[in-house]
Amino acid sequence: MSSHDIPEENLPDAQDTPHGTVKLADERNPFADPGLPPHEHRIQDIDERAAKRSERTVALLFTLSMLATVGFIASYVTIPVDKSVYIFPLGHIGALNFALGMTLGVALFAIGAGAVHWARTLMSDQELTDERHPVEASPETKAQVMDDFRQGAKESALGRRKLIRNTMFGALALFPLSGVVLLRDLGPLPGTKLRHTLWSKGKLLVNMNTNEPMRPSDIIVGSLTFAKPEGLEEHDHEFQTQIAKAALMLVRIKPDDIKDKRQLEWSHEGIVAYSKICTHVGCPISLYEQQTHHALCPCHQSTFDLSDGARVIFGPAGHALPQLRIGVNDEGYLEALGDFDEPVGPAFWERG
Ligand code: FES
Repeated sequence: MSSHDIPEENLPDAQDTPHGTVKLADERNPFADPGLPPHEHRIQDIDERAAKRSERTVALLFTLSMLATVGFIASYVTIPVDKSVYIFPLGHIGALNFALGMTLGVALFAIGAGAVHWARTLMSDQELTDERHPVEASPETKAQVMDDFRQGAKESALGRRKLIRNTMFGALALFPLSGVVLLRDLGPLPGTKLRHTLWSKGKLLVNMNTNEPMRPSDIIVGSLTFAKPEGLEEHDHEFQTQIAKAALMLVRIKPDDIKDKRQLEWSHEGIVAYSKICTHVGCPISLYEQQTHHALCPCHQSTFDLSDGARVIFGPAGHALPQLRIGVNDEGYLEALGDFDEPVGPAFWERG
């Protein structure tokens, strides 16, 4: 509500002060209007040489912006797309992108800095007050708008020319569909891709460190070994996408210590293979405690008991780690006997 809406008799008494008119507190309005603080002159307001210095600074910044814009255009025209430069500490990066980014950044920064310096040092800094007014239109204006609307509807003959009216509504209703169609460019739907990994029957387990297929004797009690599916190489275009689902960790546990019956069936000589991807938000699990058979995710400390179906015994993860069924082939190498039987990683993938 503005002071215009308050009856005059309810407004507090006003008093003139050196800083303008302020409203005094009284019984009806216990909070006095403090008015504006006294205006303090800046150095530029009283010293013409300081004002000139500020003017030159602002002009310098705007000139710098112009030069940077010219540099941007020149870079775009002259620098080859495939040229790279070494920039400490970024390493080798595209020269064109670097030049475009730097020149554009300097051009924008200099315009902004010039405008701010101009406003702070040379433009008037007198504080002004403006009473708030009602934003609602007056009854006369509203009546005028309605009259104009009816007049326009009458002159356009929308009511009489039904063909035009109906086709216009059709066009307006259909037009937003073009935006919906563009959503297709967001890419193909993932379908069931998140439910499957590269593991399948007969795929050899390859040691992530040595890149060699593994035999059961390579997995010793107490160690944590990481494996990937045979055929997946680091230089593959899809490597990161695939390893994010297929990364595997192997431990050897004495068969007598394995509590879960299915886990025992899916293991080989006590070697169990679990997804390395934490079922909380997908960090790679990397810590293993030999005595307790606990695997720990370093991100939020979810702890999985690898001797008991990798069930969660601590932390925010909501699911046990999926187990991969393994065996050995005729040549004695460890191989997968199928894919994981459930989605790996965070629980939201189950809805993919
Ligand atoms: S990602 Fe593993 S506990 Fe959060």
